[in-house]
Amino acid sequence: MLVLGIESSCDETGVALYHTERGLLAHALHSQVAMHAEYGGVVPELASRDHIRRVLPLTRQVLSEAGCTLQDIEGIAYTEGPGLAGALLVGASVAASLAYALKVPTVGVHHLEGHLLAPLLEPNPPVFPFVALLVSGGHSQLMEVIGIGQYTLLGDTLDDAAGEAFDKTAKLLGLGYPGGPALSKIAQLGQPGRFTLPRPMLKSGDLNFSFSGLKTAVLTLAKQHTLDDQIRADIAHAFQEAIVEVLTKKSLAALKQTGLSRLVIAGGVGANAQLRDAFNHAAAQKKFAVFYPKLEFCTDNGAMIAFAGAMRMEKQGRPARDFPIKPRWDLESLVNLA
Ligand code: KG4
Ligand code: ZN
Repeated sequence: MLVLGIESSCDETGVALYHTERGLLAHALHSQVAMHAEYGGVVPELASRDHIRRVLPLTRQVLSEAGCTLQDIEGIAYTEGPGLAGALLVGASVAASLAYALKVPTVGVHHLEGHLLAPLLEPNPPVFPFVALLVSGGHSQLMEVIGIGQYTLLGDTLDDAAGEAFDKTAKLLGLGYPGGPALSKIAQLGQPGRFTLPRPMLKSGDLNFSFSGLKTAVLTLAKQHTLDDQIRADIAHAFQEAIVEVLTKKSLAALKQTGLSRLVIAGGVGANAQLRDAFNHAAAQKKFAVFYPKLEFCTDNGAMIAFAGAMRMEKQGRPARDFPIKPRWDLESLVNLA
């Protein structure tokens, strides 16, 4: 079955074609980062308008790269939420209209399920069950994943998400938007041990996170120093070290609590090199297996939506998208609207 996937929940338009037997055939992405950068963050209305501009050209592009035509599409998956309402509406309405014209079914995909299943696109995918650490711009969650759609929340952030903490800290250090990759880049030049920041909630006895205090600690440090390049790098290093330690230790605790030995890292922060180093090191030491999506599928993309949608359509069957008529229809069966 050939599924077209459309992601438009935030500031990236992603489109992909996934075939249940042949795998990922093509994917394309347009990032709006440059457009939002001058405002220091995502401007929802601009995001929606840009999705409108990009979604059809990207769809043509993936069809041409995969050597397919519109008529080959057998189902359409789109991000139903969570995300920016206007941005989501673009993907949803394009998916619904195309599906109507092509007479194929649609499936609305949960954006985080897309992230969570993205490592399954890799050559050596994890088998269920596993623990997933979902670290994106809006979420920091530990999840027990038994199968597709079988998710139990083990821990959540009480305030800022990990990506949000990266972005806000980067802004404090004058690194602009989006902060995560920029902060991680300068952190490499930081002097280890120059500053030490708190490890929030490490001893809380549960699997929850809290990152807003870390941002405040960075603000205090920043006020105490003249921010030259080296101080910025030293603070960035200390911030990254603290956040990585909390994420690794809590994930290890989640593996222990569930008795599972496979860990999936998903979402934008999963692209962070120091985070990956720390998890690889822990996995070798503590004998568990760790799985990541490839770097470009850590952040938002259409491939994860096409894949998650295809998995759902395969499991749920393909709802017929036709024009229903009822040659036999009992008047008494109508829903009571009183
Ligand atoms: O998953 P994602 O693309 O979008 C959401 O669903 O939110 O995640 C975006 C987040 C942003 O906060 C961004 O700063 C962060 O992921 N991010 C990173 C890195 N790359 C992206 N954070 C730390 N290090 C990175 N290399
Ligand atoms: Zn995302």
